[in-house]
Amino acid sequence: MKSIKEYLKLEESKEQKFLKLYQEIMQDTRLEEMEACIQHGRTDCLSHSIAVAYYCMALVQILSLRVDEQSLIRGALLHDYFLYDWHQKDKSHSLHGFRHPATSLRNAKRDTRINRIEEDMIKHHMFPLTLQPPKSKEAVVLCLVDKACSIYELRRIKRYRRLSRLVMV
Ligand SMILES: [Fe+2]
Ligand SMILES: [Fe+2]
Repeated sequence: MKSIKEYLKLEESKEQKFLKLYQEIMQDTRLEEMEACIQHGRTDCLSHSIAVAYYCMALVQILSLRVDEQSLIRGALLHDYFLYDWHQKDKSHSLHGFRHPATSLRNAKRDTRINRIEEDMIKHHMFPLTLQPPKSKEAVVLCLVDKACSIYELRRIKRYRRLSRLVMV
């Protein structure tokens, strides 16, 4: 029987696809800046986004769902692309939970080409806090995995060690 860790590991070809898209986004956008911003607990926004994108792919693999994998990875990597530290007191950060999907989408559209699925994912990932539900399968997967990762991060136990090693290669 497989362990949870084994279940959550992507097949080699999917892991390679994930790394390729991650590297492209790192080149084309300012995603790297998210490393300076704390997301939850001790996890920075960049690590959060990498983990969410990776585990979106893992969930799809476990459930054998047919999705647009490229959009799933890109949309998940950019879902929190708001580029500020929401813990810092600033008027522009008010109502962060409600407003950051729109800010992230605006930034993403400024820095790269965003398709309809990626737009749906970024815009609706905070559902049900923001009232409009996701429309695509990819956005539903993101909505669930984002919440699971956020809960994990709030427990502050450990960070995503394997994933940080993976993206460093
Ligand atoms: Fe978010
Ligand atoms: Fe998130």
